[in-house]
Amino acid sequence: MNRDYLQLINDAFDDVIVDPGSILLSDDEDDFWGLLEEVSFSSKRLIEIGTGRGISTTLLSEVADEIWTFDLVDYPIRKEIWEHFEVDHKIHSYIIEDYLDVAGIIASHDFDAAFIDGNHFYEHIVCDTFLLERCGNILFHDYHIEGVQRAVDCLLKRKGGMVFARGKYAFWTNRQTPE
Ligand SMILES: C[S@@+](CC[C@H](N)C(=O)[O-])C[C@H]1O[C@@H](n2cnc3c(N)ncnc32)[C@H](O)[C@@H]1O
Repeated sequence: MNRDYLQLINDAFDDVIVDPGSILLSDDEDDFWGLLEEVSFSSKRLIEIGTGRGISTTLLSEVADEIWTFDLVDYPIRKEIWEHFEVDHKIHSYIIEDYLDVAGIIASHDFDAAFIDGNHFYEHIVCDTFLLERCGNILFHDYHIEGVQRAVDCLLKRKGGMVFARGKYAFWTNRQTPE
């Protein structure tokens, strides 16, 4: 699965500014794929909070049939990246004002996994987990940040299940076994 996306993106685009917190800039693409493999991650419909330039959306397209992704900011380059990697047909992208917009959009839809990589403050992530925990499978980026760790601990205490961590990633599932 690991295709060295950072290299592929640099080869294809002259001027992409990769998000400062992008999963590709943490030198941890191996951890990302390693954790997904360890927990046999796959999704029919995935919700992503924090699209950024769309790089994590591109990687997640390898393991998800359909992605609904949300951000406060619109970066047009994300569509170019999705078209370049031929994953744009899988992606529904929304610009929102806050998480209440997400709540409205996903209220009547089923989804089976989520990826949280938006605002990394504890209170925000707790709000995101309240919105998304019904799917039973949430991948978190930046698990080394204290607010993210506290929010994951809080989720585990409230809902049970298991947490798997690797590098800057954590995966919470309400299942008792990863598969
Ligand atoms: C670290 S970047 C995302 C990087 C992207 N996931 C990647 O790895 O390529 C964080 C993004 O979250 C967005 N963001 C911040 N707060 C948010 C919120 N409450 N809801 C949705 N997106 C948010 C920011 O605008 C920014 O684009």
